[in-house]
Amino acid sequence: MTSAEPAPGRPAGPPVATATGLCKQYPGVRALDSVEFTIHSGEVRALLGRNGAGKSTLIRLLSGVETPDAGEVVIGGEPLGDGGVRRAAELGVATVYQELSLVPEMTVAENLFLNEWPRRGAAGIDYPRMRREAAEVLGELEVPVDPGALVGTLPLAEQQLIEIARAVRRRPRLLILDEPTSALAAEETHTVLSAVRRIADSGVAVIYVSHRLDEIRQVAGSVTVVRDGQVIDTVDVRDATTPQIVALMLGTTVQEAAALEPRTVDRTRTPLLSVRGLKLPPKLHGVDFDLYAGEVLGIGGLLGSGRSELLRAIAGFEPRAERVIEVDGARVARPTAAAMKKLGLGMTPEDRKGAGIVPMLGVGENMVMSWFGGVSRRGSISPALAERAGRDLVERLSVKTPRLSTPIVNLSGGNQQKAVIGRWLHARSRILLLDEPTRGVDVEAKQQIYRLVRELAGNGAAVVFVSGELEELPLVCDRVVTLQQGRIHREFTAPDITLDNIMAATMAVEV
Ligand SMILES: Nc1ncnc2c1ncn2[C@@H]1O[C@H](COP(=O)(O)OP(=O)(O)OP(=O)(O)O)[C@@H](O)[C@H]1O
Ligand SMILES: [Mg+2]
Repeated sequence: MTSAEPAPGRPAGPPVATATGLCKQYPGVRALDSVEFTIHSGEVRALLGRNGAGKSTLIRLLSGVETPDAGEVVIGGEPLGDGGVRRAAELGVATVYQELSLVPEMTVAENLFLNEWPRRGAAGIDYPRMRREAAEVLGELEVPVDPGALVGTLPLAEQQLIEIARAVRRRPRLLILDEPTSALAAEETHTVLSAVRRIADSGVAVIYVSHRLDEIRQVAGSVTVVRDGQVIDTVDVRDATTPQIVALMLGTTVQEAAALEPRTVDRTRTPLLSVRGLKLPPKLHGVDFDLYAGEVLGIGGLLGSGRSELLRAIAGFEPRAERVIEVDGARVARPTAAAMKKLGLGMTPEDRKGAGIVPMLGVGENMVMSWFGGVSRRGSISPALAERAGRDLVERLSVKTPRLSTPIVNLSGGNQQKAVIGRWLHARSRILLLDEPTRGVDVEAKQQIYRLVRELAGNGAAVVFVSGELEELPLVCDRVVTLQQGRIHREFTAPDITLDNIMAATMAVEV
């Protein structure tokens, strides 16, 4: 069917937004090519496609952030023209972008009303009303956050929930969510999904971008598949099997993901990394574990259980942390970030934008900057070596970019994430701490990352793998520990690393 028809399987209200013949070109990339798209009131439509397929570009055109090279966007019967974000907002579009856009120095309430602060006469901003309405919408979405808290002090997941609350607060008729759950664990994801369903049931049209098919099935009536800038098809989620949807997305039939080879890890040797008594109040109250060469250790835990803080503390980024760290059996006297790096530790942070990338530098530079030694000759950087290393990484990770020198900020979200991973591949770290390494990457790229992680471990590296998507852990880990109340609570080794076991342990249910 064509996407101009009502979504299958859903009662069609009137069309809320229509795009016809949309084209958008960036230097070296045709991001959108003659796209037709219609969404009706009360409908939740998933947008699915590989990294770089054009999903976020379509969203930016519907939201007025960018104007198409050709084609037209009509919202509620009115052409958007080149009216920009302001006009789109007037017409009832509210968008949660893939990259967070909150102001860390402001409170939650101020962020929810950014630039639209309720006024009270000449006296200025009506703070009581702002706080009241903020509390209301936060309550509606079941976000347990104080409206007076500074956004910068909140964990990433809560920030993501606040982004969503900000869009919902405007009572839009078209709500667009670009990967709204990528920083959330299962429980919060569930909250977001039910909120989205409720919002749609009240007549709002919702566009929902996600790489997680299970989520799409729970929340959306239909899914529009985008590939290489074109809309390939729109199908009812109940009629299409997952392999069918994935095949539409990739343009080829896919093989079942090969089960990963079980490996034996020698845990009788001296651990590569030992952590003892790691304390970082109020989250961590004494974490102990050993990590062996050749091992992938998963860490499970609920949102806020301190997984990211744990990695940051080991890597030397939490000066307040108390801990004893040994590398190769030798105590590290002062485990600062510089000292840990020198000992061969690499880390990818969960917040790509805040800590991972240098936005205006090229993709290649962003990757090789982790180890200039690897691309230097006689003490200075060799452009030829840097180029070769960059090309190799782009190929191994299938990073979609026109050139190595393209500023990384111009890549799609998932391709930025792959480049961040390229960085630690380049650094050849012996100890790798990966915080949500597959966030925002498509299903195929996920498999690629699992294979790379296993390969690195196979070559003697020790890896810590943190993921809120608990179903990833059995696929990639040799051992999984779960955090609870600031301590390690349970430990599973293959074959007991099952989703059921990990879920039960993180939810504090005894199994
Ligand atoms: N500002 C920009 N400048 C140059 N190229 C861009 C820009 N924005 C997007 N692109 C390119 O357009 C293409 C489509 O990108 P888009 O962000 O729409 O992908 P996406 O489907 O959202 O992918 P992802 O799942 O990784 O988020 C990509 O090749 C991307 O590199
Ligand atoms: Mg995107």
